[in-house]
Amino acid sequence: MCPSLIMAGVNSCPRLMVVSDLDLTMVDHYDSENHSLLRFNALWEANYRHNSLLVFSTGRSPTIYKQLRKEKPLLSPDITVMSVGTEIAYGESLVPDNDWVEFLNQNWDRNMVTEEARKFPELIPQSETEQRPHKVSFYIEKDKADEVIKALSESLEKHGLDFKIIYSGGIALDVLPQGAGKGQALAYLLKRLKTEGKVPDNTLVCGDSGNDAELFSVPEVYGVMVSNAQEELLQWYADNAKNNPNIIHATERCAAGIIQAIGHFSLGPNTSPRDVPHFSECKPDNVNPGHEIVKFYLFYERWRCAEVEDTDPCMENLKVDYHPAGVFVHPSGVERSLHDCINAMRSCYGDKQGRKFRVWVDRVSPVQMSSDTWIVKFDKWELSGDERHCCITTVVLSSKGGDASDGFTWRHMHQTWLEGWGVKDHSNWLF
Ligand code: GLC
Ligand code: MG
Repeated sequence: MCPSLIMAGVNSCPRLMVVSDLDLTMVDHYDSENHSLLRFNALWEANYRHNSLLVFSTGRSPTIYKQLRKEKPLLSPDITVMSVGTEIAYGESLVPDNDWVEFLNQNWDRNMVTEEARKFPELIPQSETEQRPHKVSFYIEKDKADEVIKALSESLEKHGLDFKIIYSGGIALDVLPQGAGKGQALAYLLKRLKTEGKVPDNTLVCGDSGNDAELFSVPEVYGVMVSNAQEELLQWYADNAKNNPNIIHATERCAAGIIQAIGHFSLGPNTSPRDVPHFSECKPDNVNPGHEIVKFYLFYERWRCAEVEDTDPCMENLKVDYHPAGVFVHPSGVERSLHDCINAMRSCYGDKQGRKFRVWVDRVSPVQMSSDTWIVKFDKWELSGDERHCCITTVVLSSKGGDASDGFTWRHMHQTWLEGWGVKDHSNWLF
């Protein structure tokens, strides 16, 4: 298989590929608590990360996409499509797809687009960061948009250029090569996966605005327009896809709408661990260490926020899951027994009560080492007030019963600060 897909974590046929827009689809800018995003994150890491693909498809350039990742608790996607389907990148280090770049170069003349657009004073150029090799972007008021799009199209056609114009959010106008766009980029990705024999069992596309419309016309995908979808997307749907039963307009906003669609189309588990008050008592329906990791950290968050009961049996139950000889290596290098750490957790009950404290895990990747042992690596994020920290964490888990259906025992744990996200005062850093 080609290295970029391996880098993106594609190793067998993905069970589900979620292709989601970010602004006002995955991310709700009106939800400062990021409630539904965190619900999606827990659902994904507990049930999908190990066998599915997460693709973000955004209008943002790499610069402001990275900015958003710092501001919001977004998961790491396996594949990132940026700048309205003109830039495709794989894995955490965003390795660019150069074949896609070459394809977009065909019959594209960026200078000609900027020259022609200059003749329309109604078109206000967007910031420098949003001008990309295959994307020229402007702002234009809603009431002038139709007329200018028509005139600009005519003048670009006269020059024999292959281009497309996309209007989004009732304000942004992008000019792209004809072969670009979110839909074409997805079709290209699906074709690549097919060549490798790795077609996803199901694909769900998620969007809210004009530049997402194309996603919904890719053959054989399910689609969700989130409840807060923009007028131009709803209009596109009414004109083009009204009778398509594979597309819904969710009644829930943003990421909650995505979860709703997973349930509506029966694409797999659709109950977020965050929606289950006693999640720590839940047994997974399949043997998946990701479920165990999400379960522990959700309990940990709720414990410190006093959202679970503080009872002796509760802690004793937890201790049973930790091997008496198990060791925790703290990011500072200090070593402690796992049982000591659980005891220390006792005294932190409710210390974050009423304060903003959220914990989520990202990139949970389990590797089975033997019939009963897993090494699980993941990023553990903690938001406390306005401070955000991350540890790259590795744990060794073993199954309690013969096949892990009785749960896991934690045998070892090791943490390292993620570069740039460490803590200065780590005196009360636990797990
Ligand atoms: C994002 C981009 C912007 C683009 C808009 C619509 O906001 O930053 O450049 O015009 O999406 O596609
Ligand atoms: Mg959007």
